[in-house]
Amino acid sequence: MLRVGIIGVGHMGAKHLENFLNGKIKKAKVTALCDAGEKNMNRYKEQLDENVKCFKKPSDLINSGMVDGVIIATPHYSHPELSKEAFAAGLHVFCEKPAGVYTKNVREMNDAAQKSGKVFQMNFVMRDFDRFKKIKEMIDSGELGEIKRFVWILTDWYRTQAYYNSSSWRATWAGEGGGVMLNQNPHQLDLM
Ligand SMILES: NC(=O)c1ccc[n+]([C@@H]2O[C@H](COP(=O)([O-])OP(=O)(O)OC[C@H]3O[C@@H](n4cnc5c(N)ncnc54)[C@H](O)[C@@H]3O)[C@@H](O)[C@H]2O)c1
Repeated sequence: MLRVGIIGVGHMGAKHLENFLNGKIKKAKVTALCDAGEKNMNRYKEQLDENVKCFKKPSDLINSGMVDGVIIATPHYSHPELSKEAFAAGLHVFCEKPAGVYTKNVREMNDAAQKSGKVFQMNFVMRDFDRFKKIKEMIDSGELGEIKRFVWILTDWYRTQAYYNSSSWRATWAGEGGGVMLNQNPHQLDLM
């Protein structure tokens, strides 16, 4: 059974954690959590096995010897740094999008992943949606012919002010590192 640590237990980290708690993930279990803020981490304390350890600092989780891999669900700038630290500790990494904010850091992360020989995946979750798999299948098989142009209008990804208020890093250069192009649009760019 693969031992997994989740770093960042906010909106997305909690979704990952719930997939473990709901029994959707069979071959891995959560053995450690980390969040800089106690409020988010404590939300799940009652549902966790008593052996699950909670850390405040990612380095303490990464070097705890309690995990074989990490899920990184912290804000954007930290993704390359935490991934590199995890690879250096011999861990597998499943990291939230975007890969990072600066190309140089992302290249370093990718190099570290390759050298580590560990499993590395960015969470481009939409690759697993049936409709996009079907479109890819239709393009790959030639059913749609040669694609010369397409128009893609997204109408249901509007974010209200409540979303921007939900975490202080959102829609800031210092926390998010870019606007919609860096936060939401990596999914669409990835699919394209
Ligand atoms: N794949 C998807 O579909 C998808 C969807 C939503 C968000 N995301 C991505 O997930 C990441 C997190 O987004 P979110 O919406 O969960 O944000 P969030 O603000 O709800 O949660 C982030 C959590 O990380 C914690 N944190 C921040 N810095 C930390 C650090 N250095 N060490 C430990 N904990 C730290 C915060 O306390 C918070 O609980 C972002 O990269 C975001 O783009 C991906």
